Amino acid sequence: MPLADAFLDSARFQSEYFFDLNVGVCERCGMVQLGDVVDRERMFHGDYAFFSSTSTRMVAHFQAFARRVLKELDRPDPFVVEIGSNDGSMLHEFARGGARHLGVDPAANVVEAARQQGLRSVCEFFEEASAERILSSDGPADAIVAANCMCHIPYISSVLGGVRRLLKPDGLFVFEDPYLGDILATGAFDQFYDEHALYFSVTSVHNMLAPHGLEIVAIERQNVHGGSMRYYIAHAGSRPRSPEVDGVMAEEHANGLTRRTAFEAIASRAARVRTELPELLRRLRDSGKSIVGYAATAKSATVINYCGITPELVPWIADTTPAKHGLFSPGAHIPVRPYEEFVRNPPDYALLFAWNHAAEIFEKERAYVAGGGRFIVYVPDVKIV
Ligand code: TYD
Repeated sequence: MPLADAFLDSARFQSEYFFDLNVGVCERCGMVQLGDVVDRERMFHGDYAFFSSTSTRMVAHFQAFARRVLKELDRPDPFVVEIGSNDGSMLHEFARGGARHLGVDPAANVVEAARQQGLRSVCEFFEEASAERILSSDGPADAIVAANCMCHIPYISSVLGGVRRLLKPDGLFVFEDPYLGDILATGAFDQFYDEHALYFSVTSVHNMLAPHGLEIVAIERQNVHGGSMRYYIAHAGSRPRSPEVDGVMAEEHANGLTRRTAFEAIASRAARVRTELPELLRRLRDSGKSIVGYAATAKSATVINYCGITPELVPWIADTTPAKHGLFSPGAHIPVRPYEEFVRNPPDYALLFAWNHAAEIFEKERAYVAGGGRFIVYVPDVKIV
């Protein structure tokens, strides 16, 4: 597979980087992770293509996340550190709520976008060393937060060591990521790509925290990215633990979520999509219908390259991110063009690569559908909606 966010120009086709995408489960601790991990500097750098603020629903979600954390802390002058703060969608709300804040993100371009809004943001990978630096410059944190970031970090021990060091004794570490239970239940195999090094369940998060003296005190399901879980974490023994945590771990155990057999269904569903999706696209194309990809997501790299979707089947992808315009999708090299072209020249079918934002997109595209346009989705099944 190519790197999912490595949109490129034609001069770089020859030198494009590929790696083996394979996923394994540890039946002892329940962690699900990539077998071959890509160097972090190859993925997160000054040309990082993903900007958090591209989904209005997600921005509203991050604002609610920040407000929820401030309410939970319920103290004067809190200091909040965000790991993977990207362009500042969540930091902004902490700042608005009167909290001292600091974002940490390794991608210089998104850090710059946050700074331009007056947000405090440093460009580095968060680890124990950065925790020490923050501790001496700003003091300990009342809260450390992360959204769709922890699952990107294979060297997680160093990050958790940093969290333990930086977090006040009565502080909270709150993070959320796509939930393994939902990935498996919906067959969302396109969540598997280079940047997603870890796929969390409550069980695996519980086990990865234990050696660092941290524990989950509460969990909350989140209706974003196809189903996510938010984990409220504290220093072990510092807060009471919600019974729901053990309840969900028992459920995961009963459902075999942490065993190899749990993956058989998603593997066969992926194989079915690999047959059905190109067949449908071919049939539509051969009957003279126009097809355009909708949203050049990172996830689309997996489905496009695994299913062998080429520019002959999907000639271009419409996307709202200016940094991706004029470039080609990783691996298959499908051109990415501005969303405005989709509006000007709507295709018969839009292949929805951002199925996780379906509610927001269907709402936005009422006129497209009213005009006869149709969406093709492939999670949980290949169908026209
Ligand atoms: P997302 O599913 O959030 O992330 P990922 O890239 O991690 O899979 O998708 C973000 C991409 O989708 C980004 O390139 C912008 C694009 N997008 C649109 O083009 N239109 C939209 O209405 C939305 C919500 C996203």
